[in-house]
This record gives sequence, C-alpha cells and structure tokens, in this order.
Amino acid sequence: MKITIINGPNLNLLGTRETDIYGSQNFDSYLDSLRTSFPKIAIEYFQSNIEGEIINLIHKSKDCDGIILNAAAYTHTSVGIADAVKSIDCKVIEVHISNTYSREEFRHNSFLSPVVDGIIIGFGLDSYRLALESIIN
Ligand code: DQA
Repeated sequence: MKITIINGPNLNLLGTRETDIYGSQNFDSYLDSLRTSFPKIAIEYFQSNIEGEIINLIHKSKDCDGIILNAAAYTHTSVGIADAVKSIDCKVIEVHISNTYSREEFRHNSFLSPVVDGIIIGFGLDSYRLALESIIN
C-alpha cells in the first residue's frame, strides 16, 4: 500500500513554529516514527510552500492508495487545491494539527472539506496517524 502525505506552507517549520499550537516535534522525526509503526506501508512525503507545487503533487499522487493532505493556510483560501482534489479518484483525507474551529474565524472555512473523503482535525501530529489508519481500514 502506498500513501502520500502532502504538507503545505510553513509546515516545514514544525518543531520551532508557534510551538504552543503545533508542538515541539519536527515533522521528519514524527515521520520516522510513523514509518516505524507502519512498516508495510510505503509512506511518501512532500512539503511545499507554493500553491501550484501542491497542485502538481496532488496530480502526481493520483495513483496511490490515499493522500493525507494538510494544505495549512491554503485550506482556507485555495479553490485551485480543492479543484485538484476533485480531479483525482484517489482517497484524500484532510488533516490539521490544531483544532481550526477553536481558532480565528477565518480558519473555520475550508475549501477542501466539501471535496475530501474525510477530515481529521485537532489531535496534534497524531492527526496524521489517525488519517493513515482510516485509509488502511
Ligand atoms: C493547520 C491550520 C491552518 O489554519 C494553519 O494555517 C496551518 C496549520 C494545522 O495543521 O493546524 O498552517 O493546517
């Protein structure tokens, strides 16, 4: 089984960015532990701060078994990423580390939520494991 994680803008700074909200673990070390916990799953990982690159990555990942997508700030702004999700058949799970509904109002809207297969929000980095389990199951 092949699953792709796509992280959007500023998530390359996890571990040092707003640690009160996102925690102090960087994504690479989290990814190591995820791969160790799921040795039979090929987990591909991409991160980009650029909207068009995220769209290209979604197109490129269309043949995998599932995409775990944290589009970060683009969640709240990007019709282009939502259209990319709509244009592929692969299962897509939207994830967020923080509970976006308990934060500023502009984070309450997601252009992605209506077009993805499922949404996991607010469990810290564990949101990614929960999304992975949902695809496997
Ligand atoms: C985020 C929530 C977004 O509102 C924010 O812009 C992010 C991270 C999260 O994972 O909690 O960059 O997607």
